[in-house]
Parts: sequence; structure tokens; C-alpha cells
Amino acid sequence: EIVDASGLIVSPGFIDIHCHLREPGQEAKEDLLTGTASAAAGGFTTILTMANTRPVIDQAIIVAGMKHKIQTDSVVRVEITGAVTKGLEGKELAEIGDMAEAGAKAFSDDGYYVSDGRLMRTALEYASMFNLPVISHSEDCCLVADGVMHEGCVSAKLGLKGRPAEAENIAVSRELMLAEMTGGHVHIAHVSSKGAVKLIREAKAKGIKVTAEVTPHHLCLVDKTIESFDSAFKVNPPLRTNEHIVALLEGLKDGTLDAIATDHAPHAYEEKDCEFNEAPCGFAGFETAFSVLHSQLVKNGEWTVQELIQKMTAGPAAAFDWKDRGHLSVGGLADLVLIDPTREWIVDPQNMLTRGKSCPFTGMEMVGQVVRTMVDGKWVYQDGKIIRH
Ligand code: DOR
Ligand code: ZN
Ligand code: ZN
Repeated sequence: EIVDASGLIVSPGFIDIHCHLREPGQEAKEDLLTGTASAAAGGFTTILTMANTRPVIDQAIIVAGMKHKIQTDSVVRVEITGAVTKGLEGKELAEIGDMAEAGAKAFSDDGYYVSDGRLMRTALEYASMFNLPVISHSEDCCLVADGVMHEGCVSAKLGLKGRPAEAENIAVSRELMLAEMTGGHVHIAHVSSKGAVKLIREAKAKGIKVTAEVTPHHLCLVDKTIESFDSAFKVNPPLRTNEHIVALLEGLKDGTLDAIATDHAPHAYEEKDCEFNEAPCGFAGFETAFSVLHSQLVKNGEWTVQELIQKMTAGPAAAFDWKDRGHLSVGGLADLVLIDPTREWIVDPQNMLTRGKSCPFTGMEMVGQVVRTMVDGKWVYQDGKIIRH
């Protein structure tokens, strides 16, 4: 098949090192098929799914089961994260070595809080024996307590409980110290605070093995949107202020932040369609990621499209040492994406392939969209539709 790509951008397939596919156990929110279809529509050809499923991915047998299901159900390449701790309590270390042997590519506390520094230390020690990263959600559980949004002027005005940026800074500094102590690789998920960027920058300069990611929503949205009390904007860590966004952009520019990751965290629309205080945190992110950043940051001249693509391909591949990904390797079968940089569209979750129909970008005008996605030399997505093989 000859494809006319005139006027389009040809890029390596995007890599997302942070998403929640909800399988096993929460298929009403998303499953492997809808989640990977949504990833393909967003141009992602390799994704790393988090461990806060039901049951939690905390044993080798669950990793093996997931690998099997991925082979039959998924449209793109899916790598698996194992949990740092067992179950939902976070009190006991999970089977890290066994899960590594079963093929887990990282370990994470995302979706819980590892309150115990001793468990994080041991996780870093075990994971480093397999050269794998430990991903930290990095929010101090005591300090965030029952906060529902960023703590600041807006939370005070709205009378909502806050999650201060310091909760993130404290957690990040602990993780950096533990990485230095153990020699293990810590990856800081969804960096959202100015203080965290500074700490990571200093740690990298000292030679500590740390990598970090930032999400499109933390780069493009602020806490002020919550004045509408729309629970579509509720997420962890919370949307902060412009001051933090400026620091995040600097962190991306100077290499402190290695990658853009979506934290695609779908919930059923009915679950999110309630009072702000009661709503679950998170929303779908695959299908808006490239377009939101292209529309806001490339169009306003902050970045070139090459810089954006680097943080969605080679950046994440290098962070996790995935040498065979994000490149059109010689002799290998291609993972690639065709982007129309001029296509104009309006975000409407009803047209998205994810089951998570709550989206903070709903109604926003976009410029630029992924039009085709190829995995392993085969087109899997074209113009709104999945192509099954
Ligand atoms: O907003 C979030 N949603 N943050 C997390 O850390 C977890 C995620 C989820 O699993 O829904
Ligand atoms: Zn998280
Ligand atoms: Zn997450």
C-alpha cells in the first residue's frame, strides 16, 4: 500500500510510560482493547500500564496472565508495571524479583501511597538487580490528607481542601535520597511542582539515577479552572498555577524532565459526574496528548514540533533504556505515526475510543492531529478507526 503523506509529519510511534488500562477488574472504566485502541488513536505504539488494577499487579502470576491477555486483545505494544507493595494497603513488599522475571518492566506505587521509606528502599534495591526503574507517585500522604485540589488562593476562595506543592517536594526529596543511598533508579511520575523540578535538576547534577516525566494537563491547565467545580478537572497530583507551569517548561528544556507521559486514567462518565469532592481523580489522556501540546506550545512558539516529538519518543525510550523503541531501527519493523499538523478539530469525548468520557479539554479547539498509526509494520489506526489484523 502506498500512502500519500504529503503535508504530513512522519514520526516514530509515541511512547507513553504512564497509563492506567484498568484491566483486570475495572473494565467499566476501560479494558485492554478500548485502552490500546485509544492509545493507537493518540499515536502511541508502546505504553506502560500501571499496577493499581483489581487485583493489584503484585505477583508474577498476574504479570504472566496480563502478558497473555495483551497478546490477544491489544492494538499496540503494552509493557507491564508491577506494584511496589502488595494489595491496596501498601504495608508489605510485593514479589518484585519474580515479577521482573515474568517480564514486568518497572515497579510503581502509583495509585497508592508508599508511606514507608523502608519499603521504597528495598524496592529500589531489588529492582536495581534487574536494571529496572521504580516509579514513584511522589505525594506525601499525610500532607495531602483529604485535599482535593492544589492548595493556594483558588482552594481558599472555593473552600475546598488543598494538597500543597510541598507534599510533592517532600516525597520527591525522600525518593532522591533513597535512590542515592541504594544506587537504584527512581523515576518521578507526573512532576507538577516547581520545587520538584529544582530537586530533580540538582540530583541529576550530583549523578543520582533519576528520571522524570510531566503530563500534558500539568503543562496546559491551572487550578483556576476548578472555579467551575467541574470534576473533569480533578486529578492527582492536582492542577497548579502558572508559576509551576513555567518551572515545568524550563525543566523540559534543560533535560531535567525526560519525557511527556499521559497518566491516562479513565473513569466511567457516571463516576465523574458528581460533586467535586466526591469524584475520583484522573481522566483519559491518550487521544488529546499530542494535539493539546501542539496547539498550545508549538503553535505559540514555545517549542518546535521536533522538541515535542522528542519528549514523546526518544525521551521516554532513553529514560527507561528501551533501546528498540521510539526509533525507526534499521531492519526492524516500523512503529510510526502520521500527523497532520494543520488539521483543526474540537475535543468531543463522544468521538474518542476510550471508555473514559470525562475529559478536561472537552470543547477546546485543536490544531494538529494524529491521522495514522503503524505498529510492527502494520497500520492499526486510521482516521478515527482501528484496523484489526
Ligand atoms: O489522577 C490520578 N488517577 N492519579 C493517580 O495517581 C491515579 C490515577 C488513577 O488510577 O485513577
Ligand atoms: Zn500517580
Ligand atoms: Zn497514574
